[in-house]
Amino acid sequence: MSPPLIIAVDGPAAAGKGTLARRLAATLGLPYLDTGLLYRAVARRVINSGGDPADAAAAEAAARSLHAADTARTDLRGPPVDSAASTVAAHPGVRAALLDFQRNFARTEGGVLDGRDIGTVIFPDAPIKLFVTASAAARGHRRWLELQARGVAADLAEITEEVRRRDANDAARAAAPMVAAADAIPLDTTTLDADAAFATAMALIQARLKAGLHS
Ligand code: CDP
Repeated sequence: MSPPLIIAVDGPAAAGKGTLARRLAATLGLPYLDTGLLYRAVARRVINSGGDPADAAAAEAAARSLHAADTARTDLRGPPVDSAASTVAAHPGVRAALLDFQRNFARTEGGVLDGRDIGTVIFPDAPIKLFVTASAAARGHRRWLELQARGVAADLAEITEEVRRRDANDAARAAAPMVAAADAIPLDTTTLDADAAFATAMALIQARLKAGLHS
């Protein structure tokens, strides 16, 4: 029997990973996990307990005591948690604490997981890996539109700068830095809307699955 299908969707902030991964999962009948929510929930716990996200011990303790309900909170998105999530995610102890949960999630039925290190660390043997990017300006604009839609007033230039800063932080860290796996398929969504990104990703996935069947 072939192993369950795992699709890794990695890439920088606001590149459209979540929308794409959720749709791929629904279409292919696979479970979906937004791994960014795990780091966001850890950050939220640290902030709410008055701790400092840069404090590795406090962040690791929060990660080790994380419950599923923590990821269902409605206050995990927005500039303060975005940046605190990136800070806690740089601690190796936090990443180690969240590793088994992510691997177990897809062990039996497979899954589509989106994040930064799914194709490099969590599932380095995943047969399908997408690395989703878009220009910083396009990503800043998308994040700004998301905030507008939620009724949060924000400055486009500031949001774009925050996205850039977070990407730089995620790419430069020593622990599981954001980087495309050598065998990842690049997908630049700068000029693609959600439907076009989905159609392009499905075509790439089907081509790779077909090639895999014949290799
Ligand atoms: O939605 P957005 O792309 O802005 O971010 P996210 O995927 O929710 O991730 C929030 C933060 O968590 C990122 O900036 C990373 O620092 C961290 N993260 C990570 O380190 N590894 C993952 N697999 C997922 C997220």
